[in-house]
Amino acid sequence: AEEENAEEESSDLDSSSEEEEEEEMNGITDTNESKEREKEEEVKEDQAVEQEEKQTEEKKTDQEKVQIKIPSQPAVFIPVNRSTAVQEARLKLPILAEEQVVMEAVRENPCVVICGETGSGKTTQVPQFLYEAGYASDGGIIGITEPRRVAAVSMSHRVAQEMNLPRQVVSYQIRYEGNVTSDTKIKFMTDGVLLKEIQKDFLLQRYRVIIIDEAHERSVYTDILIGLLSRIIPLRNKKGMPMKLLIMSATLRVEDFTDNQKLFRTPPPVIKVDARQFPVTIHFNKRTPLEDYTGEAFHKTCKIHRMLPPGGILVFLTGQAEVNSLCRRLRKAFPFRRGNTAEDEDDDSSESMRKFKKAKVKKTVSLPCIDLDSYSALPMDEGDEDREAGVGDEEDGDEDLDLGDDPADGNEKADPSIPLYVLPLYSLLAPEQQAKVFRPSPPGTRLCVVATNVAETSLTIPGIKYVVDCGRVKKRFYDRVTGVSSFQVTWTSQASANQRAGRAGRTEPGHCYRLFSSAVFGDFSLFSEAEITRRPVEDLVLQMKDLNIEKVVNFPFPTPPSAEALAAAEQLLVSLGALEKPPQRRTVKEMQRAQLSCPITALGRAMASFPVAPRYAKMLALGKQQDCLPYILTVVAAMTVREIFEDIVVFFLVRPAHSDEENSKITQRRARLTQMRRLWAGQGASLLLGDLMVMLGAVGACEFACCTPKFCEENGLRYKAMVEIRRLRGQLTNAVNAVCPEVGAFVDPKMNPPTEHQVLCLRQIVLAGLGDHLARRVQAEDMLDPKWKNGYKTPLMDDPVFIHPNSALFKTLPDFVVYQEIMENTKMYMRGVSAVEAEWIPQLLPQYCHFGSPGEVPSPWFCSSSGTVRCQRSSTFFRVGWPLPAVEME
Ligand code: CDP
Ligand code: MG
Repeated sequence: AEEENAEEESSDLDSSSEEEEEEEMNGITDTNESKEREKEEEVKEDQAVEQEEKQTEEKKTDQEKVQIKIPSQPAVFIPVNRSTAVQEARLKLPILAEEQVVMEAVRENPCVVICGETGSGKTTQVPQFLYEAGYASDGGIIGITEPRRVAAVSMSHRVAQEMNLPRQVVSYQIRYEGNVTSDTKIKFMTDGVLLKEIQKDFLLQRYRVIIIDEAHERSVYTDILIGLLSRIIPLRNKKGMPMKLLIMSATLRVEDFTDNQKLFRTPPPVIKVDARQFPVTIHFNKRTPLEDYTGEAFHKTCKIHRMLPPGGILVFLTGQAEVNSLCRRLRKAFPFRRGNTAEDEDDDSSESMRKFKKAKVKKTVSLPCIDLDSYSALPMDEGDEDREAGVGDEEDGDEDLDLGDDPADGNEKADPSIPLYVLPLYSLLAPEQQAKVFRPSPPGTRLCVVATNVAETSLTIPGIKYVVDCGRVKKRFYDRVTGVSSFQVTWTSQASANQRAGRAGRTEPGHCYRLFSSAVFGDFSLFSEAEITRRPVEDLVLQMKDLNIEKVVNFPFPTPPSAEALAAAEQLLVSLGALEKPPQRRTVKEMQRAQLSCPITALGRAMASFPVAPRYAKMLALGKQQDCLPYILTVVAAMTVREIFEDIVVFFLVRPAHSDEENSKITQRRARLTQMRRLWAGQGASLLLGDLMVMLGAVGACEFACCTPKFCEENGLRYKAMVEIRRLRGQLTNAVNAVCPEVGAFVDPKMNPPTEHQVLCLRQIVLAGLGDHLARRVQAEDMLDPKWKNGYKTPLMDDPVFIHPNSALFKTLPDFVVYQEIMENTKMYMRGVSAVEAEWIPQLLPQYCHFGSPGEVPSPWFCSSSGTVRCQRSSTFFRVGWPLPAVEME
C-alpha cells in the first residue's frame, strides 16, 4: 500500500485522443480504423462548421461574440434533501449568492471561468448547482477534476454528505481506488484519471459537465486537460450532445485561459465570487532562519498556544517529514495524545556486504547480446485498458521517511491546562487521518494542523485563526540535461504566501506569522510559474503522443512550452524509437513539419507507461532480456532518485573549522567511502558498467542489510534515497508487469550480483537508452590543444567533458562512454558514466552512425583515429556521426 501511495496522485495519465486543429487537420492515429474514419469525418465536418462560424462571427460585434447560445439547458430541476444544518451553513458561503449568475452563464456559454477565494464554496457547491439544474439527469455525469488525490476523496465525501446522497451517487476515482458505480452522478477525480478516460472515449460521452478545479495550480495535466477540452467541447456541441466546461480558480489570474485565441476563440466569461474575508494581520519575522525553519515554526506555535486567545493554528511546512516531525515535537510539548516512533533495528552490515562482493571477472568484449527489437510492449491494439502511467510524484509527499525524534524536543515549557490537538495534513496521509481535520476538535482543546501546501487552496480547515507560514514550498525541478526531476525546497511566491495568510481570516479576524522578513517577502516572485515552462518536455511529448496527439506544437497549451523544447523532445523520442522516424521529404519545410508530427510506436506506448524519463523508460522496456530486469529496475530507480551517495565533498565541508582529531576522522571516513565505492564497482567486467555498477552494488548491499539507517550512515549512502529507490522499484515493477504480464517482474530485495554476461547486457541496455549521451575520448594531440587531455567529445558541446574523479571509470578512460548527466563546476564533468564497446554502437545506435559500403575505404578526411571503427563481423566501417541527424549511405 505504501508503494501505491508513493505514486503521484495525478499520474494516471494514459489516455488517447486526437486533436483537431483550426487550419490543418491533424493525423489521427487511432488503432481502430473505422473509429478513425468516423473521427476524421467528424473533424472535417467540424472544420466546415468552424469555417462557417468564423465567417459569421466576423460580422458580429464584439459584444455579441462573448455569448454563443446553445440550446442545451436541461429542463428539469432535481430536488436535493439537505439537512437544515447543512442548508444554513451553505447559505453563508459567498458562492451561494452567485448561483443564478453561475447557472445562467453555464447555460449560455460552453465554457465558464469561476474565480473565488479558497473557502468561498466553489468545489463543494458548484457541482450541487449543476446537479439541481438537471445536468446529471438522463444518465449524464458531472465530473470534477482535482490536481490532488486528497481533494478528490475528501470533497466527494463532503458533497455526498451535504446532499444527503449515498457514496455510489457522489463518488470519487483516483489512481488506485474509487467508489464509482453505474449510479454515479457526481464524480470527483484526479486530472490524470480524466486524461486516461479521454484516451478511451475522446468525446467523454458520459459527461454532461466537466469542472476543472484548482486551475490556478497550473499542473501540467490540468493544462493539457484544458487544451483538450477546448477542442472536445465544440465537437460535442456539433454532435448535438453539448457538454459544458467550468474552470475554477482561486486566483484572478486567469488570462492564460481567457485571453488565449488558440484555446477559446470566444473568451469565456469570468465570474468573480467575492469572498467574505476577515482582516488578517501579518507579522513578519525580524530575521529569516535559513536552515531550521521547522524549529522556528515549533517555537512560534508554542508561543501562540501559550499566549494568544483561542482559535485554531495552521502551520505551513514543505513536506511530509517536516510535518510529522513538528507534530511529534508539539505533541511532546503539549501532550494530548502520544506519537510513536519505531526505530529500525541494526543489522550486521559487514556480513551482508561480504555476501554482495563482486566475483572477479575478466573483461570481455563481444557482439551485442541484447536485441533492440525485443522489448516489453503489448501489440498496439491490446492492453490499453490497464496501463497506468505518469511521471513522478506529488509535490508535498514525495520523499521523506521519519527519521526519528528531533533533538530539541520538548524544550518549551507548556501550559498543560489547554491541550493542543495536533493533526498532520499532507497528500499521502491516509484518508481517515485527513478527514480528522474537518471534524470538530475535542472540547477544551485547541486545534493545530501542521500541513503542506495542500491546505493552501484545495482544502479549507474550519476554525483557523492563526497561520504560521514557513514561506517555503517543495517544488519539483527538472534537470535540463537529463529530464530527470528532483524535489527542492524554495521560497514560495507572494501570491501563494497571501493565500496562506488568507486561511486565518475565514471565520473571524486572524493573524499570520511569517517566518521570514518583509525584505525577503519583497524578493519573492509575484506568482508561481506554470510548471510546464520550467521543465524539459520529452516525457510530456511522449504522454501526449500516447494520447494520439501527433502535432504537439499545435496543441493549445494555456502556456505553451518553447518550440525548441518541443522539437528537441520529438527528436530524442524518435532516436529512442518511441516515435516513428519521419519520412524523407523534399523541402526543408516539409521536412520540419514531418519531424514535428511523428506518430508513436508500440515501443513508445510501453515507454509512456513507465513513470520515469523516456531514456530510462527505454532501458526498462529492453530490460527483460537475459534476466536483467531486476538490475535495470534498480539502476533506473537509482538514477531517477539521484544523489544516492552522500556527496563526499559537501559532506566534509559542512563544519567549517576542524581540529586535528576531526581532520583525521574525516580523512578516515573519506577513505572508507572511497573504498566502499571501489568495492561496489567490482573489477573486470563489472567495472565497465562503471558508476551504474556502483549504484547497483550500493542498492544491492543496502538491501542485503535490510536498508537500515545505520548501514547507510556507515557506508555513505543517503537513507532517504535508499527508501525512495525501494518504493520506486516497486512502482516500476508494477508498471512493467502491466505492460507485459508474461515477464512476471517482481521485486527481489535480496538479489544476487549480476553475472558477467548480465553485466554485458546491462551495459548494452544502458547504451540503448542513453545513446544521445554518448561521449568519445579524444586525444589532446588530435585536437592540438592541451585542454583536451583526458577529455571527451560529445555531440552537442564544443568543449571537452571529463570523467568525474569520483567515478569508477576515472582511471580507466574508456574510448566510448555514456553518461547520465553533465554537471558543470570547475570543469564539465560527466556523472553516472558507463563504458561502451565501440562495436556495439552501429548495431545499437545505428541512428547516430554514418555507414559506408562494405569494403569501402574510409575517407581520411572524415575520420580521426578513434572516430572510425571497423566492424569486424560485417566488415563495414562506420563513423559515429555528429551532429544529429545522421545520413545513411548504404
Ligand atoms: O472550493 P472552495 O475553496 O471555494 O470552497 P469549498 O472547498 O467548497 O469549501 C466551502 C466551505 O465548506 C469551506 O468554507 C469549508 O469551511 C467547508 N468545508 C468543510 O467544512 N469541510 C469539508 N470537508 C469541505 C468544506
Ligand atoms: Mg476548492
